[in-house]
Amino acid sequence: MPYSPVPARRSLLKLLAASPAVSALGGIATAAPAHAAAAGPTAPGIVKALPAEHFTVRGTNAEARFDAFADTGYLTPADRFFVRNHTSTPVLDARDWRLTLWGDGLHGRRPVHLTYGQLRDLPSVTRTALIECAGNGRSFYTGQQGEAVSGTAWTLGAVGAARWRGVRLADVLRRAGLARDAVAVQPRGLDAPYVSGGVDHGRVRRPLPIAKALDDVILAYEMNGEPLPYDHGHPVRLVVPSWIGIASVKWLGDIEVSTRPLASPWSTDWYRLFGEAHPEGGSAPLGRQVLKSGYQLPSGATLEAGRVHRLTGRAWSALAPVRKVEVSTDGGAHWRPAQLHDAPRRDGWVRWSAPWRPHRAGRVTLLSRTTDAAGNTQPERAVHNTQGYLFGAVVRHPVTVA
Ligand code: MTE
Repeated sequence: MPYSPVPARRSLLKLLAASPAVSALGGIATAAPAHAAAAGPTAPGIVKALPAEHFTVRGTNAEARFDAFADTGYLTPADRFFVRNHTSTPVLDARDWRLTLWGDGLHGRRPVHLTYGQLRDLPSVTRTALIECAGNGRSFYTGQQGEAVSGTAWTLGAVGAARWRGVRLADVLRRAGLARDAVAVQPRGLDAPYVSGGVDHGRVRRPLPIAKALDDVILAYEMNGEPLPYDHGHPVRLVVPSWIGIASVKWLGDIEVSTRPLASPWSTDWYRLFGEAHPEGGSAPLGRQVLKSGYQLPSGATLEAGRVHRLTGRAWSALAPVRKVEVSTDGGAHWRPAQLHDAPRRDGWVRWSAPWRPHRAGRVTLLSRTTDAAGNTQPERAVHNTQGYLFGAVVRHPVTVA
């Protein structure tokens, strides 16, 4: 009989009324809903303010403006981090939160509970990692390749880097009595069930193979040194480094532990590759993200001819540390290396820059290309899939020289 979570005190977001749960949190870094509404545009179901200079609202989601990352450091501040919500942000109180682990992959076969206080008492780890949506860059399948895809039309801003503090999932599983023959876990969120096309798919959940679960996954309760903001999973979320964002389940409520492989619509219907280039019935469920790079410059920006501009950007790969970044300021005819400003590391990105003095007025396409330490290089085209996941090709960035 599957376990069904019923959070003790769970109030759905009310944007214009500060709920009692908000004041109960004390010290949380995000604006309370009332302030959020006053400070700028909002998206349905997102608590924090979404000022237009930092976000583009896309349905229930908010894309961070990649060009605006120019004035952020290595880490993406929580108030600048993209939000991907299947439904809406639940405003949860850490004092009422508890995690339930259950399933035949636990010795006792009885559910095991852990309160927020008990989780905080376990040894903690701090880890810097990107979270990136599987569909980041999706709009370029259509915009650059003329191919139809379904899903949120992200440009490059469904990604952010944060310093996460929490407890290793491996420690929590072992403490709960992980059986030797467990092969999979399935974390599930406390947000409302996801209904689409009249079908109730239940709460957001997706299986993780036990090898990944025991490797580098953490149950995070802090983001950049502050309690997790509501929109990013308060009070506890999973952080699954290098994997597509859906693996990093927010508002974690329970984890099934199983001796048999698990599945959910998030591993069968979505987050696989479908289409002509892929096996009938789809690829295996997606795990790792791919590699990307982009300019921190608005699309269609105007740059003055005859003076030197410092072009800046970021590059990252979920497959290996970045090895080099090359730029082209003539539509791809010539390439030269960019200067890297961060030591390339696993699960992170590097900031880069390249000087450019455009001579003639006119339209120019800027390109950037990442190569990682495993030898992967951004190709000219990404292999199409109908849901537009894993866009890893070179992005063409139009500018005008005047
Ligand atoms: N977890 C829950 N419970 N509900 C969600 O809608 N969205 C997932 C993942 N975890 C989601 C979730 C997706 S698709 C992504 S890309 C990341 O959260 C986004 O994390 P963020 O909103 O903190 O940037």
